[in-house]
Amino acid sequence: MSKSVEPSIAALFDAAKTAQRRAYTPYSHFNVGAALRTPSGAIFAGCNVENAAYPQGACAETGAISAMALAGETRIAEMLVIGDGEGLCTPCGGCRQRIREFASPQTPVHIAGPDGVRLTLSLAELLPYSFGPENLKT
Ligand code: THU
Repeated sequence: MSKSVEPSIAALFDAAKTAQRRAYTPYSHFNVGAALRTPSGAIFAGCNVENAAYPQGACAETGAISAMALAGETRIAEMLVIGDGEGLCTPCGGCRQRIREFASPQTPVHIAGPDGVRLTLSLAELLPYSFGPENLKT
């Protein structure tokens, strides 16, 4: 990471990159790492874990969210996803909704490649007009 990168992003990047190395991807060979920071400052990471029954594979974001929940935390302040290749490794549709459960519309989601962050989007940009827990309050 270059020294000009914000420390909070650098820590997320390092955690996601470390997680990416643990990805289990015998089918796609596309390794993804995700890391999220909660308001307490704690960082939780995850990697994608594929399965011979393809639809049962889990995305990296899902793993990071599970680790957060296991630690008793339920708010995402900032998130980073890292993938290789030329394209932007943006969260899939299902993961956008999973992030939505614990984040606010303004929550930044950094999309990174091997050399650093390529694009930062808010959750609202990734998932406009989203449906969340508040919608269930009648
Ligand atoms: N994948 C993730 O883990 N997160 C993303 O944001 C995009 C895709 C995984 C799912 C699958 O294991 C592999 O990347 C190829 O789709």
